[in-house]
Amino acid sequence: MENKLFLCILVSCWHFLNALFVVDVPQTLYVVDYGSNVTMECRFPVNDHLELKDLSIIWEKQEQNTKEVYKLHKGNEDFTTQHSDFSGRIKLLQENLKLGQSLLQISNVMFTDAGNYLCLIGYRGADYKKVTLKVRAPYRNITKKTVHIQSSRGHKQKVLTCKSEGYPKAEVIWQNGDYHDLSNKANTSYETGTNQLCHVTSTLTVDTRTNETFRCIFWNKQLQQNTTAVFNISGYDEDNSRHHWLIGGAAFVLVLLLLFGIKKAKEYKYSRTCTENSLPDVTDVRIEET
Ligand SMILES: *[C@@H]1O[C@H](CO)[C@@H](O)[C@H](O)[C@H]1NC(C)=O
Ligand SMILES: *[C@@H]1O[C@H](CO)[C@@H](O)[C@H](O)[C@H]1NC(C)=O
Ligand SMILES: *[C@@H]1O[C@H](CO)[C@@H](O)[C@H](O)[C@H]1NC(C)=O
Ligand SMILES: *[C@@H]1O[C@H](CO)[C@@H](O)[C@H](O)[C@H]1NC(C)=O
Ligand SMILES: *[C@@H]1O[C@H](CO)[C@@H](O)[C@H](O)[C@H]1NC(C)=O
Ligand SMILES: *[C@@H]1O[C@H](CO)[C@@H](O)[C@H](O)[C@H]1NC(C)=O
Repeated sequence: MENKLFLCILVSCWHFLNALFVVDVPQTLYVVDYGSNVTMECRFPVNDHLELKDLSIIWEKQEQNTKEVYKLHKGNEDFTTQHSDFSGRIKLLQENLKLGQSLLQISNVMFTDAGNYLCLIGYRGADYKKVTLKVRAPYRNITKKTVHIQSSRGHKQKVLTCKSEGYPKAEVIWQNGDYHDLSNKANTSYETGTNQLCHVTSTLTVDTRTNETFRCIFWNKQLQQNTTAVFNISGYDEDNSRHHWLIGGAAFVLVLLLLFGIKKAKEYKYSRTCTENSLPDVTDVRIEET
C-alpha cells in the first residue's frame, strides 16, 4: 500500500516537486551482452550527509503490468514485493547512496530484462527518470567440423560445418579463398533454444581434392557484427597423413613379425626366413596404395 502511495505521490506531484528535487541519469541507454552484468545509474541530490531513514528508492520495469525490481523503503530494503523475474539477481550498491548514486546491478542479464526502467527516488522531495536496457548476444565462437563422405556418384567429399549461437538470427555466408560467395551451395538451419538464443548450423559440401581455404561468416545484421571461422582444406595434407598411416601400419606389422620371428627363432633354428620374407610384403602393400 505504501509503495502505491509513494508512486502516486511521485507521479501526480511531479510538476511541483520537479524544481525542488531532481533525479538525473548520466546514461539513458545501456546495451549489454546476454549473461553479463549491468549496473544502471540514477543520481539524486544529497547534501554533505545522507539521512538514510529519509531515503526511499524504487526501481521498476515498465511493462503492461509494471514489475517491481527493487525497493528501499525509508532506508530499509524490501524484497517482499519484488517480481520473481528478478529474484536473486538484483543488488543496489549501498556504499554509493551517500554519494547520491542509486546504482542498480542486474546480474546474468536475460533477453526478458530488455526494456524501460524507472528509478523513483524520494528524499526530501521526489522525482524519477527512465533508462533503457538492450540485450544482445554476439555469435562469439564458431565450432567447426569436417566430415568425410562418399557421394552417391562415388566421389569423396568433405562436409564443412559451422555452428554457433547468438541473437538475433544471423545470416551465414560462405566464401572460398578468393572471397567468392558460395552461400547458395550451403545449407543453414535455425533453432531457438530454451534460453531464447538462436542456434545456427550451416554446412557446405566441397570436393575432397580441393586444396583451398573456406570461411563461414556469421553476419549479425542488427548488431553489425561478423564472426568468421576459417577452414584450410588441403588435399596434400590428407595424402600426406594417409602416407603416415601406411608407414606407421607397415612399421607395426614389421615389429609384430619381428617379435613373432624372435619367438619362433627361439623355438626353431632356421626361422630367419620368416622375417626376411615379411619385409618385401609390407613394402608392396605401401607401393600399391600410394
Ligand atoms: C556478476 O554478478 C554476480 C553477482 O553479483 C557475480 O557473482 C559475478 O562475478 C559478476 N560477473 C561479472 C562478470 O562481473
Ligand atoms: C566460447 O568462448 C568462451 C570464451 O572465449 C568460452 O568460455 C566458451 O566456453 C566458448 N563456448 C563454446 C560453446 O565453445
Ligand atoms: C540441404 O538440406 C536438404 C535436406 O537436408 C537437402 O535435401 C538439400 O540437398 C541440401 N542442400 C544443399 C545445397 O546441400
Ligand atoms: C559482414 O559481412 C558481410 C558479407 O561479407 C558484409 O556485407 C558486411 O558488410 C559485413 N559487416 C561488417 C560489419 O563487417
Ligand atoms: C589457414 O592458412 C592461413 C595461411 O595459409 C593461415 O594464416 C591460417 O592461420 C590458417 N588457419 C587455420 C585455422 O589453420
Ligand atoms: C596443396 O597445397 C600445398 C601447399 O600449398 C601443395 O604443396 C600441394 O601440392 C597442393 N595439393 C594439391 C592437390 O593441389
